[in-house]
Amino acid sequence: MLGQAVKTEIGDITQDADDLSIVAAGLRLPWSSNGLVGADILGPHVEALMAIDRVNARNGDQSHTTERFRQELLYLLLDNCSRGSIIEVGTMSGGMTALFAYVAAITGRHCFAIDINHNCILATQRTCDRFGLAEYVRLCDGTLAMFVESHGPEVERPDLIFLDSDHSYGVTLAELRLIHSRPNLVPRWLALHDFNYRHGTPAAWFGDSHANNPIAVARAAIDFLTREWSGPFPTMKRCGAFSGQFGTATPDNPGALMQDYIARHGSEGMILVYP
Ligand SMILES: C[S@@+](CC[C@H](N)C(=O)[O-])C[C@H]1O[C@@H](n2cnc3c(N)ncnc32)[C@H](O)[C@@H]1O
Repeated sequence: MLGQAVKTEIGDITQDADDLSIVAAGLRLPWSSNGLVGADILGPHVEALMAIDRVNARNGDQSHTTERFRQELLYLLLDNCSRGSIIEVGTMSGGMTALFAYVAAITGRHCFAIDINHNCILATQRTCDRFGLAEYVRLCDGTLAMFVESHGPEVERPDLIFLDSDHSYGVTLAELRLIHSRPNLVPRWLALHDFNYRHGTPAAWFGDSHANNPIAVARAAIDFLTREWSGPFPTMKRCGAFSGQFGTATPDNPGALMQDYIARHGSEGMILVYP
């Protein structure tokens, strides 16, 4: 069945959706005790994930991350056999959520996707529906704090929290404090997107509020970990594009709209690995 899904090469979205739904429902990864699954088994699933990506790109719903970043997160989940949940904070139109939902379906994990913007939740629902994957993700309208308030106690330790929401210093710090405030919320891997990302023209767009609370994920993370966190210090693993790689904007060649860029010697993402 899976071979069939991949063979269709995602030419026709309706057909893809049917096929991928069947694949996700019927095919679990047969993890061995060490967690590694052979390429013969993993390969078709990776092809299916790439197909989801291609369909999303055609529909303008692709994740706002680099392909390399997506692959790094997906392999982290596929190569490790723990069964903790996947939590995405900030979904936009669900380009990444659909990939997580697929992985959740084949690995037996729970998947939660949170966004403060109701229209983004609707778009995410539509994107996951396109592949028949909506039943594998619980969509949560609101902030991480609202999610924790309503689901916190029942969530088992997550394998992955993917933090990709507001990116400002203040909100990121608040999210990090919350995640580290309960043992059952500290994930095995905490992926921070736009780690060294900056806006070049914040004042024009956001005025003083932005000047006082700039986009500064890296700063918030380092401040939190060095000044406030007394638990085991995570291993830091940069991921995704490094400044200037894969078409990412640099300080010398910033984005046209917001003059945004990844700071020199910085990276698109950072994964914090907790024991
Ligand atoms: C960069 S986009 C997310 C991209 C998505 N993760 C992807 O891979 O394509 C940021 C999203 O975060 C949402 N957002 C902004 N502030 C938020 C907050 N405080 N809590 C939850 N979501 C937030 C926005 O509505 C937007 O959809």
